Amino acid sequence: MTAHLFSVSSAFLPLIRNFYSMADNKNGSVAGTEKLPEVKRSWGDEVDDVAEQTESAPSGSGDIAEELNVGALVIDENKMVNKFLDEPEDSSIRAVTSGDTPYTSAATFEDLNLAPELLQALYVDMKFERPSKIQAISLPMILTPPYKDLIAQAHNGSGKTTCFVLGMLSRVNPNLKATQALCLCPTRELAIQNLEVLRKMGKYMGITSECAVPMDSTNYIPIAKRAPITAQIVIGTPGTVKKWMSAKKLSTRDINILVFDEADHMLAEDGFKDDSLRIMKDIERNNAHCQVLLFSATFNDVVRNFVSRVVKDGNQLFVKKEELSLEAVKQYNVHCPDELAKIAVIKDKIFELGQKLGQTIIFVRTRNSASMLHKSLVEYGWQCSTIQGALKQEDRDKIVKEFKDGLTKVLISTDLLARGFDQAQVNLVVNYDLPVKYDTPSEPDCEVYLHRIGRAGRFGRKGVVFNLLCGDRDTMIMGKIESHFGHKIAEVPSWQSEQDFEAALKAAGLL
Ligand SMILES: Nc1ncnc2c1ncn2[C@@H]1O[C@H](COP(=O)(O)OP(=O)(O)OP(=O)(O)O)[C@@H](O)[C@H]1O
Ligand SMILES: [Mg+2]
Repeated sequence: MTAHLFSVSSAFLPLIRNFYSMADNKNGSVAGTEKLPEVKRSWGDEVDDVAEQTESAPSGSGDIAEELNVGALVIDENKMVNKFLDEPEDSSIRAVTSGDTPYTSAATFEDLNLAPELLQALYVDMKFERPSKIQAISLPMILTPPYKDLIAQAHNGSGKTTCFVLGMLSRVNPNLKATQALCLCPTRELAIQNLEVLRKMGKYMGITSECAVPMDSTNYIPIAKRAPITAQIVIGTPGTVKKWMSAKKLSTRDINILVFDEADHMLAEDGFKDDSLRIMKDIERNNAHCQVLLFSATFNDVVRNFVSRVVKDGNQLFVKKEELSLEAVKQYNVHCPDELAKIAVIKDKIFELGQKLGQTIIFVRTRNSASMLHKSLVEYGWQCSTIQGALKQEDRDKIVKEFKDGLTKVLISTDLLARGFDQAQVNLVVNYDLPVKYDTPSEPDCEVYLHRIGRAGRFGRKGVVFNLLCGDRDTMIMGKIESHFGHKIAEVPSWQSEQDFEAALKAAGLL
């Protein structure tokens, strides 16, 4: 990690403080206070359509790939114009290309031969100045014929969405009124967020798009009663997309680019593997040349092995797990004697000190834990909102919108928002419960841990994480997370000491 990351905060803090005064209206939604049934859920607390049946994975071994000259992909630092937000921590990306197509890293967005309408949106509306490392390396691979498949791993918050959104927008023929690009995401929140990015970036292009997510609004029209989808780009969750396809409303005939965001989860056994493979197979039946892009910050060995077989002849970008933690996000363990102490830490330390910071996300493991914590905090007079999968879709959308608009400062969430959720102002993440594997709660879910803490520190910003540990089991689980990432986590010496928390925030560069 280079020193220039640390130049962010001093310029950024006044903005955060301004933002706080805007957001300090304590009007957050109160939801999820009731005791909820603990239903068996898929990852992320998302309740999507039930998978129909298991399909076997395509077989075949990965091609022997040729090591790419990563040196040739180095970004010219002299062209670094964005002095405000610095290069995020994705400089340790290892690239492996398949075949002999030469790729040159893009130092500027112009180098990518993007449509002028896209450049206008990037510079004027998004205020982007230059591509991040993952954008510089992956975009030439995505946009250069023969449009090879790509598995791309890069740090949380390093701008992966831009890679596949620019990819989709660039590959669509604007004169063909049919779906040509499809992006699958694990949650409705992420699908909606990605669609918002797509619409912003595609603002001047006149390309049509639609979101395929479960709906429970009264205005909802069942897919069977709808006209066939003609949107040129569809972004959605696998259950709904599959439904649209089975109802013959979403044609796969013209789809020439298929994106999986959070691809490791989309292709994991305990994720959306069956649905994802079925959709991929349906598309490939019609179009053998459909380009498949897999993006995530994490690919554990099992998934990585599997995806390398699914995407046999593709290019690959990977980061070692020991290099995945964001250095700009400082992590702390806080040992608490009991559950009450954990709540005391939230109300006396996190809320108090949070007044001086941006926004906070508190992650909990279960829906009941979310409701219980919400209730206790509200009883103490603190305002916060809570999101989890049992809420109505409309309520979920409203809670996310209020948080994104800065109307709420503190959001309690199950793992529903652990992946992909992008809100620059979040600089404090609390693990009220540690993430553990659903079926083996004594084992940490290291990938989810990384994604959770990656909600802070977006695009090189500073952030802080407090892991609230209670009892030997939590200590053991945290120890496993530390050794998995090869990263020793600092301690807040006393859960009762305001000075200790203040010192932690200072060390993280937030005070
Ligand atoms: N080139 C750029 N210049 C400035 N800001 C950028 C650039 N690219 C992306 N960003 C901003 O960085 C933030 C994080 O981007 P994004 O959500 O795509 O990250 P990600 O890599 O998908 O992270 P995660 O793995 O957590 O999903 C967004 O707010 C986005 O607008
Ligand atoms: Mg993302």
